[in-house]
Amino acid sequence: MTIDNHFAYKFIINYQLSIINCQLSKIMGKVALITGITGQDGAYMAEYLIKKGYTVHGIKRRASLFNTDRIDHLYQDPHVENRNLILHYGDLTDSMNLTGIIGEIKPDEIYNLAAMSHVKVSFDTPEYTANVDGLGTLRILEAVRLLGLVDKTRIYQASTSELYGLVQEVPQKETTPFYPRSPYAVAKLYAYWITVNYREAYGMHASNGILFNHESPLRGETFVTRKVTRAVSRIVLGMQKDVYMGNLSSKRDWGHAKDYIKAMYLILQQDKPDDYVISTGITTSIRDFIAMAFEEIGVTVDFTGEGINEIGTIVAVDKKVFNKKLGDHYYESFQKRMGEVVVKVDPQYFRPTEVDLLIGDSTKARERLKWQPYYTLPLLIRDMMDSDIKEMKKEAYLKEGGYKVLNYFE
Ligand code: NAP
Ligand code: GDD
Repeated sequence: MTIDNHFAYKFIINYQLSIINCQLSKIMGKVALITGITGQDGAYMAEYLIKKGYTVHGIKRRASLFNTDRIDHLYQDPHVENRNLILHYGDLTDSMNLTGIIGEIKPDEIYNLAAMSHVKVSFDTPEYTANVDGLGTLRILEAVRLLGLVDKTRIYQASTSELYGLVQEVPQKETTPFYPRSPYAVAKLYAYWITVNYREAYGMHASNGILFNHESPLRGETFVTRKVTRAVSRIVLGMQKDVYMGNLSSKRDWGHAKDYIKAMYLILQQDKPDDYVISTGITTSIRDFIAMAFEEIGVTVDFTGEGINEIGTIVAVDKKVFNKKLGDHYYESFQKRMGEVVVKVDPQYFRPTEVDLLIGDSTKARERLKWQPYYTLPLLIRDMMDSDIKEMKKEAYLKEGGYKVLNYFE
């Protein structure tokens, strides 16, 4: 065989091999790793990717109780062959663990969603938050680099509108300067820039999604929207007298997590990595969100007073809407509560430094990713209220049946 023939032969074999590989990966589906799979976004992402034919690996933390509620409907017996959801114990603070998992499964895509994600709590645990939310991202990027997976593995970093903090421009877009206002946001700022740096330094397909607040029935109970939809459900069912809130005047650009995980997916399907703002472009105060949640079940709450003296009072109930949502069983006792105060302010929920206004401009994502949210704020609130009323009705039945139910204080 001449040298020319040898190279031609090698070229043809390599070409055929690459076609076989390509077809194999189409048949076998892609492999994704989701950190934070037990969280709100992780759960929706896992479901979405499994439906697309992915094999999904997730990292869960060891806990003293089961902590997989949000993904239990997807979970399969570990003894079943060809599972499409596989969980690994791990932690973003443990480099060896992360490197081991990534090296073993060699994912096509990593969605780094794990974080200590509560802004107020980050003031209590600033060092831990920096370790998980900042250095955790570095650990993943570095594992991919050291394992020689730079050309194979694409990385999505869960960046946040909290980076804009004390906003320098309204609305906020990709070019708006950052001004973080919490240990959480400062840690996420490091994660944002280290993602950009690894992309530029090593040619990694690593991208930031700068996501504005997104909520759902799966939202953690201590974030404001879920705290409100749970409390409103309990108040109208007679399970709770009132709710104490923090700053009612801050404004957020709220969307539905189901829409936002689609944006994350689209970001990793682009030929080139890049950073994108994901938002609805509509901003609403916490006060208005509370009023809308009550309105969803026909209850009008009027806000009066200022600062820590502000209160929300029941001023009207639409019987038809109320009964349609809850059944007439609860109307009689609730309408006796007309004129009662159901929302109060407790300064313990205030933050040392607050983010007053977030409103995003997601033109880039809408044009390049062809992304568009389906859910409006009223639809999001309906989804959350329907889910929490169903949940709390179970508790109300237990209580009426003489069983003890717990109170929740957030
Ligand atoms: P979430 O519900 O609080 O979920 C966070 C996930 O991270 C959970 O699975 C949690 O595990 C896990 N986690 C926490 N510390 C960890 C550690 N040390 N090692 C491994 N896993 C750890 O948050 P989310 O709302 O789904 O948000 C997902 C990501 O997007 C987060 O990074 C968040 O900061 C970011 N983000 C969220 C929003 C939003 O509005 N939701 C907006 C912008 C950015 P456990 O279940 O064991 O606690
Ligand atoms: N949690 C909470 N509890 N917030 C309250 C309360 C309360 O009782 N009362 C008023 N707020 C105000 C907060 O002060 C804040 O201005 C706003 O409600 C939203 O608070 P959270 O729901 O805790 O969310 P966040 O905006 O601080 O952070 C969320 O969104 C970020 C994206 O902008 C989290 O999901 C972060 O992880 C995410 O990065």
